[in-house]
Amino acid sequence: MTLVIARTREELAAARSSFGTIALVPTMGALHEGHRSLIRRARGLAGTVAVSIFVNPLQFGPGEDLDRYPRTFPEDLAICADEGVGLLFAPTVETMYPGSVETAVTVSSGEMGTIVEGATRPGHFDGVLTVVLKLFNLVRPEIAVFGEKDAQQLAMIRRMVADLNVPVWIDGSPTVREKDGLALSSRNRYLSPPERVTALSLSLALRRGAAAAPDGPAKVIKAARAVLDEAADTDPPLELDYVALVDPTTFEEVGEEYVGPAVLAVAGRVGSTHLIDNLPLYLAPEPFPETS
Ligand code: PAF
Repeated sequence: MTLVIARTREELAAARSSFGTIALVPTMGALHEGHRSLIRRARGLAGTVAVSIFVNPLQFGPGEDLDRYPRTFPEDLAICADEGVGLLFAPTVETMYPGSVETAVTVSSGEMGTIVEGATRPGHFDGVLTVVLKLFNLVRPEIAVFGEKDAQQLAMIRRMVADLNVPVWIDGSPTVREKDGLALSSRNRYLSPPERVTALSLSLALRRGAAAAPDGPAKVIKAARAVLDEAADTDPPLELDYVALVDPTTFEEVGEEYVGPAVLAVAGRVGSTHLIDNLPLYLAPEPFPETS
């Protein structure tokens, strides 16, 4: 399939009419193996895969990494071509936010956008939901695929689609990890070798926490925290933002009596790099009975 590149709304509209069903993979570029897996998943869901590449200023807070966020368009283009992407939408800021990024009307992420990751990054989820809705309105996909690595983002997009009757089916794709457990992220390329070693504490904390799931929520947090506390004393240190055991749909912290699916979410800074990770787990009152 020939890859069509659209940079403007007009080019996109002209291209859109020649495609049937579209599965959109929204990205901010700096594509890696995790994005490849989203694209491959999308390929099985619709006739055409569209990828958008747009570093969205609205979801970055003051002092965050908007200016240094990696922009690697030639490499991204090669990955899209290699993965059989049919449509690449790569708009400018002016195309997405004509006149000003400070639009009068935005999507509010509500209370859910102010907890867990939203408490660390005020306004972030409003920015994410606003640009995702704009991308949906422009690309008009039937399906959109997002990574479970950004679990709260995925839950919030599902919520937006349900609450605002957006006719797009949302699909979540499992996190892709390096062999040593580090979740793939475009921000990993900021890490120096010693910082990368410290960053491994996030996925280790998740695994230790998940192993304690049969003992209940408090033990899960305790086991995860033990790893994170140790990482706070290494050089370079991990500066923990949060570790939370939450309901996968609401992101409210679960109580000690909770039984059911949960997400163990963690975030912290290593050097100047903000990293997040999570693991889905199941909280049961007792270990599952052994089967013979
Ligand atoms: O996950 C991302 O890369 C971004 O938050 C998204 C969904 C493309 C919106 O800018």
